[in-house]
Amino acid sequence: MAQFEARNGLAGLRVLLGVSGGIAAYKACELVRRLRDAGAEVRVVLTENAARFVTPLTFQALSGQPVRSGLWDEAAEAAMGHLELAHWAQRIVIAPASADLVARLAHGFADDLLSTLCLASDAPLAIAPAMNLRMWAHAATQANVATLRGRGAVFLGPGEGRMAEPESGLGRLLEPHEIIAELGALHGPKALTGKRVLVSAGPTYEDIDPVRFIGNRSSGRMGFAVAQAAMEQGARVELVAGPVHLPTPAGVARVDVRSARDMREAVLARAPHSDIYVGAAAVGDFRPHEVAAHKLKKTGGALTLSLNENPDILAAVAALKPRPYVVGFAAETQNIEGYARAKLERKKLDLIAANKVGEGEGFDACQNEILLISRDGAERLARADKLALARQLVARIAEKYANRESEIGSGKASVRKRLPARASGRTRARAK
Ligand code: C5P
Repeated sequence: MAQFEARNGLAGLRVLLGVSGGIAAYKACELVRRLRDAGAEVRVVLTENAARFVTPLTFQALSGQPVRSGLWDEAAEAAMGHLELAHWAQRIVIAPASADLVARLAHGFADDLLSTLCLASDAPLAIAPAMNLRMWAHAATQANVATLRGRGAVFLGPGEGRMAEPESGLGRLLEPHEIIAELGALHGPKALTGKRVLVSAGPTYEDIDPVRFIGNRSSGRMGFAVAQAAMEQGARVELVAGPVHLPTPAGVARVDVRSARDMREAVLARAPHSDIYVGAAAVGDFRPHEVAAHKLKKTGGALTLSLNENPDILAAVAALKPRPYVVGFAAETQNIEGYARAKLERKKLDLIAANKVGEGEGFDACQNEILLISRDGAERLARADKLALARQLVARIAEKYANRESEIGSGKASVRKRLPARASGRTRARAK
């Protein structure tokens, strides 16, 4: 037990558990018990609506501490003022978080005790939402979620599955054990402490003239999620971003670029000092041979553009000596494993994350599914929210990177593994 507590990172932590209104509030009871089992000290704050679903007495009995709800409770304020409570908390966990609470937090409201505490506390905020699937998917909720994430809040779920209504979809509160596991991963030992991770994300734009460009549909979400997940694992993260309108994950150093050649320059300036490079950008393969100085005019006929091929950034990083651990992405519409494996070999990558694009999958979607391919084999990461998927991906990258480092350290690494660019080329030449 002691060993588990040391590893789960929750032992001894002062956790403020906020519970908002919704049928899933009953699951917060078990969460209190599990948090305490993991060694955390828990104080519960209910919103007025939460108290309609579960009584404060239940939480008081489970937490062994007085439960608070209103801002204007004189007796409670005398025992511990709300600012003192905000200061007491080392972590704030909200489960369940209703759509209303997520909106109020995103807009910085302080009109009840829980929202006031969130505003007054410096403690990291973890939010486990629970709501109807359409409310979760609504652009307003998603914008609020993006705002909170941009400020460093971490979302745990929501999960997919049956909810209170006879409908199924994304919006279900994670089970208490899943919340504990995610919190443990967030606050436990970090897999990339002290490592420098470079991520490229988003599309590139190739100018045709001063008003037109060639671009692609990449949203940048996956790369931004990878940057955030690497940050959470203790890495120093630099993010080279193509033109996207996404908030920078808290603590990540971002460089904005536009074209593939700008991206190449920004990446190659940083890659030699990086331990890991994740190329998640959808780099445009072609650019106009020349950029017109003035807006091109219609001539009543066809316009022919002559295109040049862009440099391959990933392959250029993989050819550096010494080189970081190099992870690429492959967006495919068919024969995913075959094409991705060929790309892994051709570009001399350490790892490639392959996914399917088209028909609502990949680029613009919030969810994704990944097939992770290295020379040793393939592994499927189950379909999930891009941030949840990025966390799984970063955990695998950290594991494989650490294995490679210890192989190199113990001298067991093969020449091909240490110098993949040159040596594997030779191996192939000999095999011909
Ligand atoms: O060859 P393809 O574009 O399918 O390869 C995708 C992978 O290669 C992605 O990781 C992408 O970031 C990277 N790439 C690159 N430079 C290019 C084209 C793709 O780094 N010019």
